[in-house]
Amino acid sequence: MSSSTTNIQTLINQAEDLYEKSFGDRELGNTNFNTFCTSAPGRVNLIGEHTDYTDGFVLPLAIGYSTVVYGRGGIMKSTSSTDTRCRIVSTTTNSIVEFQATSSLVPLCKSEAWANYVKGVILQYMSELQSADERFVLDIAIAGDVPLGSGLSSSASLEVATAVFLECILNLNNNPYCIDDSLLYTREAKMERAKKCQKAENVFCNVPCGIMDQFVSSCGSRGKLLLIDCRSLDYKEVSMGGEEGDMPVLVVANSNVKHSLGDSEYPVRVQQCKDATSILSNVNQNIQSLRDATMEDINTASSSAGLEGALLQRARHVVSENKRTVEAANALEKGDWATVGTLMNASHASMKDDYQVSCPEIDILVELAQGYEGVYGSRLTGGGFGGCTVTLVKRDCAQGLIDHLNKEYTAKTGKQCDCFETSPGSGAGLLMA
Ligand code: GLA
Repeated sequence: MSSSTTNIQTLINQAEDLYEKSFGDRELGNTNFNTFCTSAPGRVNLIGEHTDYTDGFVLPLAIGYSTVVYGRGGIMKSTSSTDTRCRIVSTTTNSIVEFQATSSLVPLCKSEAWANYVKGVILQYMSELQSADERFVLDIAIAGDVPLGSGLSSSASLEVATAVFLECILNLNNNPYCIDDSLLYTREAKMERAKKCQKAENVFCNVPCGIMDQFVSSCGSRGKLLLIDCRSLDYKEVSMGGEEGDMPVLVVANSNVKHSLGDSEYPVRVQQCKDATSILSNVNQNIQSLRDATMEDINTASSSAGLEGALLQRARHVVSENKRTVEAANALEKGDWATVGTLMNASHASMKDDYQVSCPEIDILVELAQGYEGVYGSRLTGGGFGGCTVTLVKRDCAQGLIDHLNKEYTAKTGKQCDCFETSPGSGAGLLMA
């Protein structure tokens, strides 16, 4: 992981080769079927962590690592089971998973669990078919370079790339071409896609995630971060302001401590937010989710309604993080890097102490970065319990920071970290048809 941009052509070649090897001799022959290649990026969240599933604000960017889906597919009226099958294969496992896209699809476990992200999305798109006896039929090969289990949303990128592939089959959105022209998708279409993909992950993969990852993977825009209101799903594209020569860069450092949202304490945090909300709603009936609460509400609930311990801490993180996120977006637009950095540092402290989703390795990376020259701010990014940090640093200090992190992280933990510079990239799209 050393370059900031995916060599998308390499991924296309890998997926195409795998397709040929896996399905080339038994290719779907139907002349109504088409070949498509789609892609969707992973993401880094600058600030606004664990706020999306309580209707709050997030400020992520799409990155230059993606998942590519290459294959052939179409829609058939179901006749016999052998006619209407889906086969999927990925460069990570190389083994083909075969199933029928019916409403009785069930999740697979263990070695085939990766296929749930594809199957879950197919299930969500079945409502777009014209009649109950129509079926998706496809053979697809998947290649990607979003590091798995690193908190950079490899699963959302697989879901969203699959969604775009299905949209091509359905001929939704008038077949917009070319990833750099992602504006050809309507805003509405990109948001609907994100909602379907989030639902796939919630329902089929049993992960109660919010919408941030799927949203930015679908709606990302080159050169822009997205300030997303996770209640209304309205979003604003935010550019980094200031003077060109003064523009800092973002450095991502992967701790290589793998996280998995479903198995982590993530679902526990989601539940704790619900529990805190129900206590808060006793002191202020307008509080439907933590998005609606203020620090005063929290103080009142703490002194008079029994909001205490872990629930108090979780609520305090979310309420303060929403405020920081909106402030950070404003400061970013103005090129006020010092303020952005201060907010990032405060966000990390809150995630570590109040939300308790950090881990020793991540804290070491953050401390190393925060103490390095030219760094404005550094924090854990993503769901936590491992994964990556994101650091805002002066451009001419970035390489020095990367060398410093590589050396000191290994010295302190015995582990390797992988670092890369990143900048906001485009969202999902059709690469070729
Ligand atoms: C994961 C989830 C997101 C979000 C983040 C934490 O990435 O998929 O929905 O909750 O964690 O901000």
